Amino acid sequence: MSVQPKILVTSAGGKTGLHTTLMLLEKGFPVRAFVRRRDHRSKTLERAGAEIFLGNQYALADMRAAMQGVQRAYQCAPTAPNGLHFNAVFTAAAYEASLEHVVTLSQWLSSADHPSLFTREVYLSDILIGMRSEMSVTTVNPGWFADNYLMVLDMAAHLGVFTMPLGAGDVRKNAAPSNEDIARVVTASLADPASHVARTYRPTGPALLSPNEIAGAMGRALGRPVRYMDISERMMVKALKALQPSNYSVAAVTQLALYAEEYRRGTFAVNAPTDHVAHVGGRAPEPFERMVRRTVAARPKLVRSPLRSLGAMGGFLKILATRPFDLMKAEEARDYVRPPNPAFSQDDPAWLDSHRPVKTRAATVVAA
Ligand SMILES: NC(=O)c1ccc[n+]([C@@H]2O[C@H](COP(=O)([O-])OP(=O)(O)OC[C@H]3O[C@@H](n4cnc5c(N)ncnc54)[C@H](OP(=O)(O)O)[C@@H]3O)[C@@H](O)[C@H]2O)c1
Repeated sequence: MSVQPKILVTSAGGKTGLHTTLMLLEKGFPVRAFVRRRDHRSKTLERAGAEIFLGNQYALADMRAAMQGVQRAYQCAPTAPNGLHFNAVFTAAAYEASLEHVVTLSQWLSSADHPSLFTREVYLSDILIGMRSEMSVTTVNPGWFADNYLMVLDMAAHLGVFTMPLGAGDVRKNAAPSNEDIARVVTASLADPASHVARTYRPTGPALLSPNEIAGAMGRALGRPVRYMDISERMMVKALKALQPSNYSVAAVTQLALYAEEYRRGTFAVNAPTDHVAHVGGRAPEPFERMVRRTVAARPKLVRSPLRSLGAMGGFLKILATRPFDLMKAEEARDYVRPPNPAFSQDDPAWLDSHRPVKTRAATVVAA
């Protein structure tokens, strides 16, 4: 009887980690799921057969313990400060544990001199993890997740507006991948390392969509008209501060503002969509509207009622009343190395070169 290698999934309670864990278990791999707390997500993973590891990804001792008896791993650093530390801890522990293969979640924007510290740290981490030949690596570089749009679905459901700082409503700037499709690419690369060694994949959705088209898909799924409203960066900061206080630190909000700038510049549309979900994940990427319908079906609170509309209006007023912070000042207050000549991705020739279409090996593709 052949014994399947054990796989560690970090950020297993997160957007891509949860689906990766479930998909690997479905394929028969033993999975250790690294989470930081026990809650409904860890229960879901445990019920599906995962071994739960409770720990802190910043702590080398925890990562060392999590890698005991493991042969492969999914490295997914949370969107949180000190990304280079997260990744250095993972890389050091992975080499000590002699892992055979790692799939690392990078970023579409990953480039050496990016104005975003988080992105520069991802770029360095990508280099560090691939520096030793005894462990093979597959890099997955998604752009702006479809899930990001779903953060404002309540507002769309109850007030009929899709509010984000994405620029002109009619320009197609992103082919957003679903969490599940990203996880499909990660899972395939973990299940069969030999076919994916040293490859970089950029999973996308099936088509570039404009903000108006995204609003249209939300409206059809919600059964009401939804209008796109381009908001200012200042308003985005207020909304993130008012509605997501526990999810995003000040440092993360400053980075999200830079990512929104990249969105408006059209960086996520460069050579997108790709065929990587179909060719690596083995399934055609799912259309955005299907994701919204799934979310609507799973969240009864999106069903309209006068009380919920009132609640949403209250949330909107709270955003208006929230004091924004100055992004530039917040950046200046942080003590970190700055590149002498920061460059957005498309102004970096090396980035443009790395985003030329790559040929993927075709898997058997199942319709979405
Ligand atoms: N969102 C995008 O558009 C986008 C685009 C490209 C790349 N990315 C990359 O995607 C990565 C995030 O992936 P994701 O969205 O799948 O993850 P995620 O949903 O942000 O999940 C991160 C998980 O890590 C947990 N966590 C946070 N700090 C921890 C710590 N110190 N120790 C242990 N666990 C900790 C969180 O726990 P709790 O849930 O309990 O807080 C959460 O479950 C980032 O590296 C980001 O650069 C994101």
